[in-house]
Amino acid sequence: MIPPGFIQELLSRVDVVEVVGRHVELKKAGINHKGLCPFHGEKSPSFIVSPSRQTYHCFGCGVHGDAIRFLTEHHGMSFVEAVQDLSQQVGLQVPEDERSEADRAAAAEQRQRQTTLTDVLAKAAQHYRQQLKSSPRAIDYLKRRGLTGEVAQRFGLGYAPEGWRTLASAFARYDDPLLAESGMVIAQGADEGKSEADQKRYDRFRDRIMFPIRNVKGETIAFGGRVLDKGEPKYLNSPETPVFVKGRELYGLYESRTGLREKGYALVTEGYMDVVALAQLGFPNAVATLGTACTAEHVQKLLRFTEQVVFSFDGDAAGRRAAGRALEAALPHATDTRSFRFLFLPAEHDPDSYVRAHGQQAFEAQVRDAVPLSRQLLEHAAIDCALDTAEGRARMLAQARPLWQALPDGALKLQLLSELARQGGLPAEELSGLWGQGQGNSRGRPGNAQAHGSSPAETDDPFDDGTPPGERYAS
Ligand code: UTP
Ligand code: MN
Repeated sequence: MIPPGFIQELLSRVDVVEVVGRHVELKKAGINHKGLCPFHGEKSPSFIVSPSRQTYHCFGCGVHGDAIRFLTEHHGMSFVEAVQDLSQQVGLQVPEDERSEADRAAAAEQRQRQTTLTDVLAKAAQHYRQQLKSSPRAIDYLKRRGLTGEVAQRFGLGYAPEGWRTLASAFARYDDPLLAESGMVIAQGADEGKSEADQKRYDRFRDRIMFPIRNVKGETIAFGGRVLDKGEPKYLNSPETPVFVKGRELYGLYESRTGLREKGYALVTEGYMDVVALAQLGFPNAVATLGTACTAEHVQKLLRFTEQVVFSFDGDAAGRRAAGRALEAALPHATDTRSFRFLFLPAEHDPDSYVRAHGQQAFEAQVRDAVPLSRQLLEHAAIDCALDTAEGRARMLAQARPLWQALPDGALKLQLLSELARQGGLPAEELSGLWGQGQGNSRGRPGNAQAHGSSPAETDDPFDDGTPPGERYAS
């Protein structure tokens, strides 16, 4: 914990224009400076740095922050690293921690424990990889699923053998509390307060193909384990631990980082096997949500690597429900420079089975024909609405309103207003009136497509134009 007073002192000494200016070419524009936004690809500058406020803001993608935030978001530094870096630049000494000895020790211990947990998980992963080599049955299963040894190695696939305590051979102490804390060992009776000696311990994963889940740094933070034959559950996942929060992690993100850049877009699937199979068959840019709905946090994480996202769904009812949730997760991030699309496979297929049955070209075609977010929004809003009646159109508009409002201001939002008005049987001005402003044109310029975003720097201080929704993008 760095004392808040010091942060204030630091921010008053550094100049955000100088900090940002080292990485972005800035030109003076009125009282501000402007340049091309380093957070999204753009050709005309909508990135403004304000010396008076000591903040930056992008009217294209909504990023917003101070000098510290710039270093954490743009350079991937941790908060403490950014503070130390800036302090050094202005010759300030980061003060000694003001917390009590005990608090500091506890924090250090927690950091230490996280590293220890990922060490334990890495060791388990290594053990499972080793076991796979000497298990013909598991190798045979992977072969039957069409996987090459190469792709299995790339994803660090392994095998948890049959038996209740096979991890005992990989760790010095089977009753090490870290094994239970990392989720690898189940300690029965621990919740009931039984002493360690009285707890019954056994491996969580037995006789399963093991998929290590890695964070963006490449550390193993959890596992998914698949049964080889029939059995319940088909996939068993690690429990949430201090290093694994499910709604936040995407399977395959670490492995697909270069693939994302190569392909220029991310493919979001539902399953472990989809990711691995796609990687082998020409789509090294796939990731998967871990058996949960796609969240805004997932989307945010992906957007650090690419501006284009294709969500893939099975063509059945569950797939359509999942598409609804993905739409909601994507909407707040759908700025004008980004693209979100929705791919619906035939009902009997998932990406793995589709690409195996029809080949890479056919799947490329599916990607090409994926439904853009604008159309998906229109269709989603119209669910259960008879558009040939006034009631049905009104209901459609009522369903559309929260979706439309979740969009960030911009040209896409304005175009969708017109589309919705057309589909809803209302003149656009009437719908705009009905739904209020929210398009940044509340100063009596209804219908002005230039709400903001194009040349904000020409006004004296664009930051006074209401508070931009930058906070929505907080990580
Ligand atoms: P699916 O049931 O669609 O399986 O679950 P799948 O991905 O096609 O797997 P294969 O091809 O049969 O091997 C999709 C995802 O939902 C999660 C997993 O992440 C899985 O990849 N899931 C599914 C679980 O977590 N537990 C389960 O029991 C089943
Ligand atoms: Mn499958």
